[in-house]
Amino acid sequence: MVERRGRVEGKVAVVTGAGSTPGPGIGTGKASAVTLAREGARVLLVDLHPERAEETRAIIEWEGGQAQVFAADCTRADDCEAMVQAAVDAFGTVDVLVNNIGLASLGTVVDVTEEAWDRAFAINLRTAFLASKYAVPVMAASGGGSIVNISSISALRGDGTVAYSAAKAGLIGMTVDMAYSHGRQGIRVNAIAPGHITTPMVMSVSAPGSRAEYMNRMRSEAGLLGTPGDGWDVGWASVFLASDEARWITGVTLPVESGVLAVTPLMMAPYLRAVPAPEEG
Ligand SMILES: NC(=O)c1ccc[n+]([C@@H]2O[C@H](COP(=O)([O-])OP(=O)(O)OC[C@H]3O[C@@H](n4cnc5c(N)ncnc54)[C@H](O)[C@@H]3O)[C@@H](O)[C@H]2O)c1
Repeated sequence: MVERRGRVEGKVAVVTGAGSTPGPGIGTGKASAVTLAREGARVLLVDLHPERAEETRAIIEWEGGQAQVFAADCTRADDCEAMVQAAVDAFGTVDVLVNNIGLASLGTVVDVTEEAWDRAFAINLRTAFLASKYAVPVMAASGGGSIVNISSISALRGDGTVAYSAAKAGLIGMTVDMAYSHGRQGIRVNAIAPGHITTPMVMSVSAPGSRAEYMNRMRSEAGLLGTPGDGWDVGWASVFLASDEARWITGVTLPVESGVLAVTPLMMAPYLRAVPAPEEG
């Protein structure tokens, strides 16, 4: 049993992408779901791969929290509608929605295919649009709520992922528009822009061995703190934005990135150069 301080006690949360790509570490959706439950929320764990969300449920129940798994493809409107209904049926309402689904994809505007462009927008933006479309009326009917959209620093700085960056920037646009449109209904809408965190998804696309270690060190050294970040850092930011502690915060994008957006790249060069290059071959 863990300490439960109750910062979101009594609230009902829906977390999309609440599982995690298999592998060591924890994804941002899984961490958001566990931390929300730890602070007293009952959580609907939504994932395309329900066995991933079952792992999240097992952690939450082991810690003494309450959660249910809901299998859905959140690019589909009917699945999102059913997801919101499932939360209402199981727990009575929806107070918190964490739109966490996302997948990075490499490519410039020249080499990204139309299919890859559309897929990036479907996964990173359409899922949040559809989940919000059905959650907002439920929140409005009960006097308000909090929506947290998981964007990325890729929305704000170039890194060779044009479709992903554009879709994540779209999510920030959606955040401010929703914050405006639903503020008077008591609904706060904010985004989180995670930086170079290490999650199982990142590790699954990293080269193995010394190259992966090297990239992890570089990711840490690129930030002002020089320390590694992970899914938990995003999870605790989700809890804060979901909680009444953030009752007067809406329409913002909160960077969770060890300050990489606060510095010019040149200033970090000495730290990055000091990381030993991996053995080639
Ligand atoms: N890992 C990073 O460094 C990083 C950096 C910036 C932003 N982010 C963002 O954080 C979020 C999560 O990243 P992660 O590393 O935890 O990823 P992850 O792959 O571990 O978790 C995402 C989950 O979403 C699920 N999912 C995918 N498509 C779905 C769909 N259509 N319907 C329902 N579920 C679906 C997957 O099955 C998976 O369990 C993403 O939005 C990502 O873009 C991550």
